[in-house]
Amino acid sequence: MSKIFICGDPHGRFEHIVSTIDEFHPDAVVILGDLTPEFSLDEIFKNRGNTEVFWIPGNHDTDSDLIFDRLWRSRFSSHNLHGRVLDVCSVKVAGLGGVFRGQIWMPPGRPNYVSPTSFIHKIGKSGMWRGGLPRRHRSTIFPNLYERLGNMKATVLVTHEAPSVHPKGFKAIDDLANKLGVKYIFHAHQHQSRVYGQVGGVAIRGVGLRGIVDLEGNVIVPAQMDPRELEEEVVIVKEKKPSLENEVKFHKPPVPKKSRMSLRRKSKWLKNKRHRTGGQKPIHRSRPPVFVPEGE
Ligand SMILES: [Fe+2]
Ligand SMILES: [Fe+2]
Repeated sequence: MSKIFICGDPHGRFEHIVSTIDEFHPDAVVILGDLTPEFSLDEIFKNRGNTEVFWIPGNHDTDSDLIFDRLWRSRFSSHNLHGRVLDVCSVKVAGLGGVFRGQIWMPPGRPNYVSPTSFIHKIGKSGMWRGGLPRRHRSTIFPNLYERLGNMKATVLVTHEAPSVHPKGFKAIDDLANKLGVKYIFHAHQHQSRVYGQVGGVAIRGVGLRGIVDLEGNVIVPAQMDPRELEEEVVIVKEKKPSLENEVKFHKPPVPKKSRMSLRRKSKWLKNKRHRTGGQKPIHRSRPPVFVPEGE
């Protein structure tokens, strides 16, 4: 099988992909969306040797006009796998980029709009971007594209959204994989490196943030931790591990619960108590007298 590397969300960083190309000379790399490049892909991959570069868009790749143009207006726009099956170094690879958005279609619910045309018809000219679909929805999965892709055949399915094995995944991705008859699914978007193994005869792999794996799922470049998860972890660590100040407190000998009362304090306490009870010793120190109603 061809040496094809699958790359998780780069989010603006491509050094690891370029250096992997230089070191391993794969036949192709496929980038799973959220590229958000700071330069045109032409600039980033100008010295890529014989390695082909393919990609699908992620939800963040339509965040700005600049990001959009660095992808769709580069020479690599023809290597966008979204909504089609391409022969990638003798392997049939199907691509489904973008995400499901409730305004259009949130499976398993019914779609609000079937195609970009029906949505444009609804929003009219004023809502258009560059004479067509609003930029944000250039990374939205439309039902007609999804259906069309499902009528094709492929060996590998690459998606930005996750299939249902992931807690935030979609059964619609499983169904698409079954229709395509693929043996492998690689997904991104969740920023988690996950090995799901064989699920219904399909090997599923989640490629983490800036991670790179091969078609067998072997790690070429380990994924990075999502900064959002890092923040969560710091919060947990702060809660669990005491600070230096707390540690000092922790190592102090514990204060006994029942400390002995000083003689002076005790005599004062007794004096007050006698005053409360009229000089009499209380009969019931802890229990109140039992009330017996008359006639019983
Ligand atoms: Fe994403
Ligand atoms: Fe992402």
